[in-house]
Order: sequence, then structure tokens, then C-alpha cells
Amino acid sequence: MNRATETGTAPENSGTEPPFITEVAIERFKAAFKPPPIPLRSFNVVIGRNGSGKSTLLEALQWLDATIRRDAREASDRYAGIGDLINLRSQDPYFKLILKWSEGGERPRWRYSLRVDGDEGVPRVSEEELALLDVRGRRSRQYIATKNGERWVQPDGDATSPARFPVPEPDRLALVRAAESPHSMESPRGLGPFWQRAVFLRLSPNRLAFGSPATRKSFEPLLDEEGQTLPALLNELDRDQRIELIRNVQEILPRVRGVDVSKAEGGRDTRVHYSLLERMPYRGRAGLKEFPIPAWMLSEGTRRITAILALLVREPAPTLLCIEEVENGLDPKTVQAMLAHLQSAADAGTQVIITTHSPWLLDSVPIESIIEVRRSRNGDTRYERFIARPEIAAYDPRVPAGTRYVQEAD
Ligand SMILES: Nc1ncnc2c1ncn2[C@@H]1O[C@H](COP(=O)(O)OP(=O)(O)O)[C@@H](O)[C@H]1O
Ligand SMILES: [Mg+2]
Repeated sequence: MNRATETGTAPENSGTEPPFITEVAIERFKAAFKPPPIPLRSFNVVIGRNGSGKSTLLEALQWLDATIRRDAREASDRYAGIGDLINLRSQDPYFKLILKWSEGGERPRWRYSLRVDGDEGVPRVSEEELALLDVRGRRSRQYIATKNGERWVQPDGDATSPARFPVPEPDRLALVRAAESPHSMESPRGLGPFWQRAVFLRLSPNRLAFGSPATRKSFEPLLDEEGQTLPALLNELDRDQRIELIRNVQEILPRVRGVDVSKAEGGRDTRVHYSLLERMPYRGRAGLKEFPIPAWMLSEGTRRITAILALLVREPAPTLLCIEEVENGLDPKTVQAMLAHLQSAADAGTQVIITTHSPWLLDSVPIESIIEVRRSRNGDTRYERFIARPEIAAYDPRVPAGTRYVQEAD
């Protein structure tokens, strides 16, 4: 089945402000039973003990992303089905996600809520709603509605209008259909491209060197979670973007002079590979020469750096970029350089959510951007603004965030 046309058809450059997520509420999903909603900004750093619930937040968003690209079953396949995902404390087998987006500025414009039931291990979207909010945060129009178990899209946002169509497939989202439907006024069309260009990374150095098809399928993300499709991403960059990529890589690794992707040969399963051109001394001769170093011979850190920087020079850029344990495999100077790139991407409109285990990293980001995940003895997971915690706020402002985090970690 061709799903490409079903992931939202709005042109990538529609000229409007890209939406960004201002708040996520997660209920009964993995570690999160019913924590208070999580406020998000354009740049967010999530820290917390092992098993506290950092990935739970990203996985909730990624589940939604995978359901939009594919369907709810495939989104649940990476867990042994939806049963694993529903919080064990829950009596009834369901989870809920509620997202709010703004279109620039703090004020949420859209509210989307979703309930997914998992009786008999098969996910079933049982409730879905998409509303446009007025200045007071109340619903002014409703584009997706559910009643008596039936979901439908109201393309003009009006419940009394006869123009509506049902979405009967239990594993598909009405959100995809609503984002496709053309409408003249306030329309949820921006939400389609938002998810098309959402990226979730848990980079794997081995996968980054594995090679991939030369081009990306249109329903696939700009880069897959482990980074295997990096050669395809590099192929999407035009000449100027490649020059910018190399300039950015050079700031961190001055020897690097260029990037190459091998040509695809005939056949169905051909993989292409990328290499970086490095300047180095050559067999006793004077001076330095440039050599292509294939991905599998590059350092693991270099592979990670190339992947993240390639995403950041792409146009249009990712709308949402989530990176798990961003500091993995990177030296301290490189971490600082990458943080600077991620923060400028956030300033330019990419919403960034990174998780970390590095207190030292906290010293290099605005303290307001830190979200701390804590789990109480009875298993309750909470997501809080780090600076909102009284013990943290009480420190002398000169004490770096990382020191406060380590001192106050429980
Ligand atoms: N279905 C579930 N019900 C309750 N808790 C769960 C469920 N699935 C996972 N967990 C909890 O979530 C923890 C993992 O959370 P995660 O978000 O991956 O942590 P981290 O902060 O390390 O990324 C597990 O150790 C477990 O305690
Ligand atoms: Mg984790």
C-alpha cells in the first residue's frame, strides 16, 4: 500500500510558522501513570535517574509519530505489542496522550487528545479529538470528534456542518486525514508537515556505518532512529548544504574536507555508503593529502556528529528533533559545539528535546530549559521544571546547574 500520500500532503514550505509542542500530557503510558502535563519550550533538556521516565516521554511522541506514518499496530510492534506500553497500575487497558501546539509564541492554538485501548493486545484508537483554541484556551472549533466510539473529521471545524467523514479504521488516526483536508481559514494543515519532519534519534554507531538505500521513501522520517539512512539524508542535501555541513564538521574536526556518498548500483537491495574526506600525511611524502575515509573507518563520535549536523543543515529543517543521550561518544568540546548547534536550530524553529545523563552538560544550557524526571518510592514518575524545584531555586545563582543537580539528586 502506498502510504506516502496519507501522511499529509501540505507542501513542505507552506510559509506559515511551524507549530511547536507547548505541552504533553501522558497518562498510563509506560513509566507515566498520570503525571501533571509536561510544559515544553523550543529547546528542552531532560535529565533523571535510570528508569525514571525520560525515554517514556520521547517514546510517547514517537509512538504517535509511528502511528501517523504507519499505523498503531506497527507503532506498538517494537514493544511486544501494546500490552507492554500500558502502565501496569492501570485497571483498564488503555493509555492517553494529550498534546498542545502553538504556531509561534507561547499560546497554544491546537489541542489534540488520543485514547488508545489495548484489550486483547491489539491497539484500538477509541477516542480522538482535535480542537482549535481561543485566546482563553477554550475550544473554538473542532476538527476531529468522537461519539459513541465513532471518530470523524469535520473539515471546516464545525460540528453542525454536514461536511464530515468518518475514520473507521481502528489503527489509523483521523489526525492524518484532518491535516490533509483543505480549508480556507484556520486549518490543521500545518500539523501534517510537523510530523513529516519529526525526527527521533537513538543513534547507533554500527547502524550509522551500515549503509542504506540511496533515497528515502516519502513516509519515512528524515533520518531513522539509529541513523542507518544517513547516506540517503546526505543525498538530499544540495551543494550549498553540503558545504555548510562540512564547515560545521570542520569546526569540530578540522581535518575533514568533504563528504561523499557512493553511487547506487543496479538491483533491489543495493546499499550506498558515505565517506568523509580527511587530510592526512601519506606514505612518507611531504605535505598532506585528502583521502576518503569510509563510514565504518570513521570514529564513532564522528559518525554521530555527521548525522546530527546533516539534519541541521537540511532545508526544510526538522520540525521536532528528539535525541536520546546526546552526549554519548562525544568529547566535552564536541558536546559544547553540538549544544550550540542545537540551540541555534531551536532559535530557527526546530523544536529540540534531548535527554542526558551528564550534569556537566547542564552547565552549558539555559537552566530554564531543564526538565527533571523523578520517580518516587511508590513508583510515581513526575516531570518538573528543574528551576521550579525550591531546593534548586534556593542556590546562589553562581552555582552551576550540574552541581545543583548532583547535590540534590535522590
Ligand atoms: N507497562 C509499564 N507499567 C509500569 N511501569 C513501566 C512499564 N513499562 C516500563 N515501566 C517502567 O519504566 C521504566 C523505564 O522508563 P524509561 O522512560 O525507559 O526510563 P529512562 O529515564 O531511563 O529513559 C522501567 O524501568 C519500568 O520501571
Ligand atoms: Mg532512557
